[in-house]
Amino acid sequence: MINLDKILGLPILFDEKNLDLKFDGDFAPMRKTERSLGELAPFLKNPNIKEGPDPVYRVWRGVYLKSEEEKVKNSGLRLDLVVMPPGKIDDEFVKTAGHYHLSCPETYFILYGRAYILMQSYNENPKAIKSARLTEAGAGERVFIPRDFGHNTINVFDEPLLFATLVDENVVDDYESYKNMHGASYYFLDNGNLVDIVKNPNYDSVPELKKIRAEKENAGVWRNWNTRTLQERMDESH
Ligand SMILES: [Fe+2]
Repeated sequence: MINLDKILGLPILFDEKNLDLKFDGDFAPMRKTERSLGELAPFLKNPNIKEGPDPVYRVWRGVYLKSEEEKVKNSGLRLDLVVMPPGKIDDEFVKTAGHYHLSCPETYFILYGRAYILMQSYNENPKAIKSARLTEAGAGERVFIPRDFGHNTINVFDEPLLFATLVDENVVDDYESYKNMHGASYYFLDNGNLVDIVKNPNYDSVPELKKIRAEKENAGVWRNWNTRTLQERMDESH
C-alpha cells in the first residue's frame, strides 16, 4: 500500500498489487467505473483482441472530502483518479480510450508510475490532425492539456500508473472521434525492447509528433490547492 497523502494531500492508499484505492477518510460519495476490454475494443488498432487485462483501467470520479465540499463546489472543478496496469492488449500498450472536450482544458497530476500523454487537435475535420504532442511524465509531475486538445494516456512502462485529473465539473467527454478512428493519431506498440510509435492509418493526415516537457508539481497538491490560481490556469486557452 502506498500512502498518497504526501504527494496528493488526501488520505488515500494505493494498493499497487491489486490496482485499487482505499479511501481512508470521510469522502463524499464518488462514482467508480471500470473500462472493460470489450468497451475499449473500438479504440484499438486491432478491435479483435486476443489478450489483455480486463478491466483495462479504473476511474473514480468526483473525489473530495466532505469537509472540503464548499471549496470544491465553489471551484466548479472535479478531481478524478485513474489507475492503469502495465502491459499490453495484443501488441498495443495499455491505454485509455481518449476523448475531446473542446470547451475546457484539463490538468493531469501523476501520482505513481510513469505516463505517456498524447494530445491532438484538428481544425474542422477530426480526421486531419493539426497538432500532435506527446508528454512523458512521472510521479510528482503535472501536464496541462489545452482546451482544443483531445487526449489519451498510454502506459508503456512496466509498473502500474496512477494519476489524478482536474477538470470542469460539467465537462462532457466526446469519445466519438477517437472511436471512429480506432484510437488516437498514434499507436504505441511493443517491439521487444523498443516502443514503436506509429501513425494511425485511419486518419487522413497526422503531423510528426512534438515532444512537450511535463511541469514539476508541489507535493500535496490538493492540500495546497488554491481555487483562484488553479481556475485561472484552467481558463487559459492556448
Ligand atoms: Fe479529459
